[in-house]
Amino acid sequence: MESCSTAVSRTPAAFLLLHLGLISSMAHQNEFQTGLAGGEVTLNCTGILPDSKLPQETVVRWKYYDTTLWRMEKGTPWKTSAFITDRFDIKMQYKQLWVQNLKLSDAGIYTCEYGSHKVRTSLHIFKLMISLDGHFLQNEVPELILMQNSSSPLPDLRITLFDSNNNRVTPEFQNKSRQKYVVNLKKLEAMDSGTWVCQVHSDSPLIDQNIPFAVKVLGFQNPDLERKYATVDSTVILSWRLNSQQIKWKEGFTGQVNWKQEKSANPHELLDFNVTEQGQLHETKKSSNFLFEIPERKPESTIEVKLPKVHFNYSGQYQCQLEYQGRHVQSKIELVVMKVSAKPVGPLSRGANMTLTCQVSGPLPPNAYLRWERVNGTKKDIKNSEQNEFKLEVNISAAGLWSCHLIEDSDRKISFHYHVEEAAVWTNYVIIGASVGGSLLVFALGCLCIISGTSWQRRRQRAKRMAQARQYLLENKMCQCQHRLKK
Ligand SMILES: *[C@@H]1O[C@H](CO)[C@@H](O)[C@H](O)[C@H]1NC(C)=O
Ligand SMILES: *[C@@H]1O[C@H](CO)[C@@H](O)[C@H](O)[C@H]1NC(C)=O
Ligand SMILES: *[C@@H]1O[C@H](CO)[C@@H](O)[C@H](O)[C@H]1NC(C)=O
Ligand SMILES: *[C@@H]1O[C@H](CO)[C@@H](O)[C@H](O)[C@H]1NC(C)=O
Ligand SMILES: *[C@@H]1O[C@H](CO)[C@@H](O)[C@H](O)[C@H]1NC(C)=O
Ligand SMILES: *[C@@H]1O[C@H](CO)[C@@H](O)[C@H](O)[C@H]1NC(C)=O
Ligand SMILES: *[C@@H]1O[C@H](CO)[C@@H](O)[C@H](O)[C@H]1NC(C)=O
Ligand SMILES: *[C@@H]1O[C@H](CO)[C@@H](O)[C@H](O)[C@H]1NC(C)=O
Repeated sequence: MESCSTAVSRTPAAFLLLHLGLISSMAHQNEFQTGLAGGEVTLNCTGILPDSKLPQETVVRWKYYDTTLWRMEKGTPWKTSAFITDRFDIKMQYKQLWVQNLKLSDAGIYTCEYGSHKVRTSLHIFKLMISLDGHFLQNEVPELILMQNSSSPLPDLRITLFDSNNNRVTPEFQNKSRQKYVVNLKKLEAMDSGTWVCQVHSDSPLIDQNIPFAVKVLGFQNPDLERKYATVDSTVILSWRLNSQQIKWKEGFTGQVNWKQEKSANPHELLDFNVTEQGQLHETKKSSNFLFEIPERKPESTIEVKLPKVHFNYSGQYQCQLEYQGRHVQSKIELVVMKVSAKPVGPLSRGANMTLTCQVSGPLPPNAYLRWERVNGTKKDIKNSEQNEFKLEVNISAAGLWSCHLIEDSDRKISFHYHVEEAAVWTNYVIIGASVGGSLLVFALGCLCIISGTSWQRRRQRAKRMAQARQYLLENKMCQCQHRLKK
């Protein structure tokens, strides 16, 4: 008041009326503020002098509608029973009302009176709730509920949602009233973890409020279904990478790994595991008649099953399942095993035929097929399987290195090499072992002890071919070679 009267005294008469008008409108000031349930607000007593300059005789009062919450007379503050001491406070410097841990019912009109001034603040409260406390499993669809409360008629809100990557999500409104908006978000993926934002807009009153909320999605970094190919007797590691560490999931959960040979077969439990709230993984082997190991050293938050020497009949579906509060999510790896056989086995005599069979353990996807070919052979040594065939036979009459490839989308996924020697008398052989990238490859290669009567020339050619074959095998390190030997 004082500042206004000094201002008036210095104002020319022509402006006095206008200024009085301003004073009276300032004396009843209307403010609008929004708050978020669980959060806090500071309501201003706009225009009040700081504590040190406020005249002693000024009476200051805070009211909620007509109920007095707090007042100060002759410099002494008083709290009424309506002043909830654990949530309300007065910031003395500017007599602001501070409300924390807001509730929907805190909405309404708060008035600060000092002298003849009245500052009315309409407090509009939003409350955002997310289902399951924001803790989801992959593929679940969260439900979001937005509520609002105010002293005035509730506005029609425009709600926009942004996911953790700041992409707009089109919400699906389940039910909508002005008090309560129920929204279904999208089906979650593991990478949707993070802070989402609910943007609330209204034109009248003008509201633009961003409400952040946390979403945690526990799941796999693998796709839902992976296909893995292996040659028989090779070492296979099936691994499922959990995202619990990345998203700082602080709850315990359990899980298991099952194997099913065919879709209809009974699942066979291989191991179960649990992860504590601190993120420690404990695994327990469940199966004794299935030859597998749990690798000791592996990346954190990874579930692994190692098949040290995969059998043809170990193909099928390996499923890792997570369980949290009675809900489940799973990720599957389909293991396809390839084997090769020859009939008759052994070196090929001149003019004779041999049937080579390449077989995979299960049906292939539509974009995949098998191919037999002879290394450095001609076009007529190539044979492809038909769609949906999982066995490919060739009748061969030429010795050499034959390869069966599994080709998916024109990528060679795996290859099996079979070395067909020309018949001769064999008296000796050596086994060459090579360790490549931790996996042991054993090449059994025929050696050269030739019966008398064979020319040196022929022997040299044979030695050259053997060296070429050995070179080829070493260059194709991921492959396995099988070679039948004749004593
Ligand atoms: C309250 O007053 C402070 C200080 O004058 C100002 O910075 C703030 O923006 C005001 N808040 C509102 C909601 O008007
Ligand atoms: C909305 O606020 C009023 C006070 O303004 C209160 O009486 C009412 O209970 C609140 N509604 C809800 C749903 O909390
Ligand atoms: C929608 O909300 C209204 C009012 O809250 C309620 O009466 C009605 O049953 C709800 N409908 C559905 C389908 O949930
Ligand atoms: C987790 O697994 C370990 C080892 O198998 C077991 O001792 C422990 O009781 C399990 N904890 C829970 C909560 O299942
Ligand atoms: C798979 O085949 C191997 C021989 O190759 C046999 O010993 C084993 O019992 C078979 N396992 C199953 C589960 O059929
Ligand atoms: C070998 O196969 C070819 C064609 O596949 C056939 O013409 C020939 O008769 C076969 N020879 C023998 C000995 O089976
Ligand atoms: C390969 O030969 C066998 C016996 O000689 C014959 O039964 C079979 O049909 C032949 N297969 C192909 C693909 O030519
Ligand atoms: C195929 O031919 C290439 C080039 O002539 C040669 O380097 C390679 O050793 C041959 N491979 C086999 C298995 O004969």
